[in-house]
Amino acid sequence: MDWIEVGHIDDIPRLGARVVKTDNGNIAVFRNATDEVFALLDSCPHKGGPLSQGIVYDRRVTCPLHNWVISLESGEATGPDSGCTNHYPVRIEENMIYVSLDKPESQPVVYKKTAEV
Ligand code: FES
Repeated sequence: MDWIEVGHIDDIPRLGARVVKTDNGNIAVFRNATDEVFALLDSCPHKGGPLSQGIVYDRRVTCPLHNWVISLESGEATGPDSGCTNHYPVRIEENMIYVSLDKPESQPVVYKKTAEV
């Protein structure tokens, strides 16, 4: 599996996101309040809104365009809405974030910042 380096986890503010431009499109890398990190295609399954500009809470992001709530773990819309955007494997080593674009994951995944040493 090939991994691309995204940067240090502290380059992404808590409850924020960073966009990584790739040949596969823009990937939004999110950090939630408990330092879990997730990677989704930066495109809402509704009408392609930029999820990286949404509001992060728990393991979800609210799309800034029409307020669909998307699972950061699975890329799936929650509640009454249906649809799914790609989500990608994330690896954290010594608090550096790596994302693999080889193939989107279909199972929920959680990655967490390691303790400071
Ligand atoms: S484009 Fe995301 S809710 Fe409509």
